[in-house]
Amino acid sequence: MKNVTDFARARRELHPIVMVAAYDALMARIIAASEADAILVGDSVAMVVHGYPSTVHATLDMMCTHVAAVRRGAADFFIVADLPFLSVRRGLVAATDAAGALLQAGASAVKLEGLTGHEDVVAHLVGSGIPVMGHLGLTPQSVHQLGGYRVQGRAPAEAERLRHDAQKLEELGAFSCVLECVPARVASQITAERSMPTIGIGAGAGTSGQVLVLSDLLGLDDQFQPRFVRRYAEGHGLVRDAVNAFSRDVRGARFPAREEVLA
Ligand code: KIV
Repeated sequence: MKNVTDFARARRELHPIVMVAAYDALMARIIAASEADAILVGDSVAMVVHGYPSTVHATLDMMCTHVAAVRRGAADFFIVADLPFLSVRRGLVAATDAAGALLQAGASAVKLEGLTGHEDVVAHLVGSGIPVMGHLGLTPQSVHQLGGYRVQGRAPAEAERLRHDAQKLEELGAFSCVLECVPARVASQITAERSMPTIGIGAGAGTSGQVLVLSDLLGLDDQFQPRFVRRYAEGHGLVRDAVNAFSRDVRGARFPAREEVLA
């Protein structure tokens, strides 16, 4: 995908959208050569790469650094960048500056979590020509307020609220919306009601597309295995076994071999 009109077309033609969250140039280069449609430089980078306990530790500098790296690896790819925690809560000027910095670093669009209290920011960014992706359901930046990482929208009132927020986001001009950890029937209903594409994670099969974090689909983290993630590789064991093989070869004087020695 090259731009937001491709997202709209994919929704119209019921072509499932594939987005992968990644944070560095090498992985971006691999994804850009794959069949995926877009890369998300998610604020999950704070946890996955930097080892923080939550995404509230992602800063604008951190996000810009990773967006720039991903752009260097994927020159022509559609890249969505997360606006970090509270950056949309410091007023329109600060929010616009943050979004501008992400775009200048190489993002094609920005994603922001939740809606209540920053409807004006969404409208202002869209009105300024900045493509905005929404993010409803489990919004990890609000983990302290939500009381943990749990499914959102099970209660009828919560589901109504999600439907309302999705409608509002679309009216404000968001080109797409992530639905995270939402019951499948709620996500399907929202998707059917909206013309903007929905991208699900832990939201069932009825969304317009799916997003997974690259390290999750590669199975790199043996301590994080939620039910909604499918592991397409056993990356953790693969890396550990390769490092063990290297270690044994060094200690057994099998590495480097003659052909690996520079003259
Ligand atoms: O930060 C992130 O990686 C995300 C996805 C999980 C949707 O927001």
